[in-house]
Amino acid sequence: MSDTVVMAKRLVKRFGAFEAVRGIDFTIALGECFGLLGPNGAGKSSTIRMICCLTDVSQGTLTVLGWPAHPGQRAVKRQLGVVAQDDNLDPSLTVRENTEIHGRFYGLDSCEARRRSDELLAFMQLEGRANEQVRALSGGMRRRLVIARALMGNPRLLILDEPTTGLDPQARLLVWGKINELKRQGVTILLTTHYMDEAERLCDQLVVVDHGEILERGSPGDLIHRVVGDDCLEVPGVDERQARAMAQFLDDYPVWTDRQADSLLVYGGQMDEVIDQLHWKNLLPRTYYRRRASLEDVFLKLTGRELRD
Ligand SMILES: Nc1ncnc2c1ncn2[C@@H]1O[C@H](COP(=O)(O)OP(=O)(O)OP(=O)(O)O)[C@@H](O)[C@H]1O
Ligand SMILES: [Mg+2]
Repeated sequence: MSDTVVMAKRLVKRFGAFEAVRGIDFTIALGECFGLLGPNGAGKSSTIRMICCLTDVSQGTLTVLGWPAHPGQRAVKRQLGVVAQDDNLDPSLTVRENTEIHGRFYGLDSCEARRRSDELLAFMQLEGRANEQVRALSGGMRRRLVIARALMGNPRLLILDEPTTGLDPQARLLVWGKINELKRQGVTILLTTHYMDEAERLCDQLVVVDHGEILERGSPGDLIHRVVGDDCLEVPGVDERQARAMAQFLDDYPVWTDRQADSLLVYGGQMDEVIDQLHWKNLLPRTYYRRRASLEDVFLKLTGRELRD
C-alpha cells in the first residue's frame, strides 16, 4: 500500500457562491497524526466531511486510501472511523447497543460486534456503563463512547473532529493516552482541535487554515521555531508608552513583539541577553515571565487575536 493515506490537491468546497475551502493542498502519510487547525469557520469540518465521503468535492482532487472521495465511495467509508464534531449517538439506546449497531454497519456479525464492543468499551474505560442509556452519560463519557464506536470497524484512518472539546482535564488525559496508543498500533489519525497543547502533544504534522486557505504547515516544533522563535518573554501590566519604549529598544535585537491585552510579548532567541539589556535600561517591570514559545503563540500570530463569529 502507498504511504499516502489522504491527498488533497487544490481542494475546494463551495456552499452556493461561498467558498469554505479555497484550493488547499496537503497529504497525510501512513501512520502519522495529522492536525488540521484553524479558528471557528476556517473550513476544517468542511474538509473532513469531504474526506469522510459525506459531501461532494466542489473542485480539485481528493483521494482517501487510494480512492477518489465522493459520497458514493463505500470502499472508503468502510475503512474510516469517524468522531464527528457533534456526536450523533442514539440517546434511546444503551452504550453497548450504540457500539454494536455501528459494528453491524461495518459488516461484523453479532458475535464479533459484541466481542469488539466489550473490548473497546474497556479500552475507553466505559465497561461499567455498557448497559446504561446514553442519555444518562456525562459529556466526557459520551465523547469517549463516540471514540469507542468509531473504532468498531478497525479503521485504517481515524478522523477526530474536536474529540476533547468540553472534556475535563482527566478525560482529556485519558483520550490523549488512547490516541497515542492507537498511533503506536499504526493507525493514521486526522485530528482537529482548538486546544493547541493537544495538537502540540499529538500531531506529527499539521496545517493551520483560516478562511479556507492554508497559512502554514510543518511539525509543531518546526512551526514554533520558524514562525515565532523558541523563547517568549511575557511582561504583564504594561501601558502603551512602556510597550512602545521596550519595542523601540528591541529593534536592534533578533526578536519581535506583540500585544495581548495589557501584556507585551517578546518572541525570538537570545532572550537572556534581551532580559539583561532591558534590566540595564530600566525598561523591565518587576514582574515578567519567561517561557518556551508554544503552538498557541504560532496560532495567534498566524490567525490574529481578533474574535471570530
Ligand atoms: N452546509 C453548509 N451550508 C452553508 N455554509 C456552510 C455549511 N457548512 C459550513 N458552512 C460555512 O463554511 C465555513 C466553514 O465551516 P466549517 O464548519 O468547515 O468550519 P470549522 O473550521 O469546522 O469551524 P469550527 O471550528 O467552528 O468547527 C463557515 O463559514 C460555515 O458557516
Ligand atoms: Mg468544525
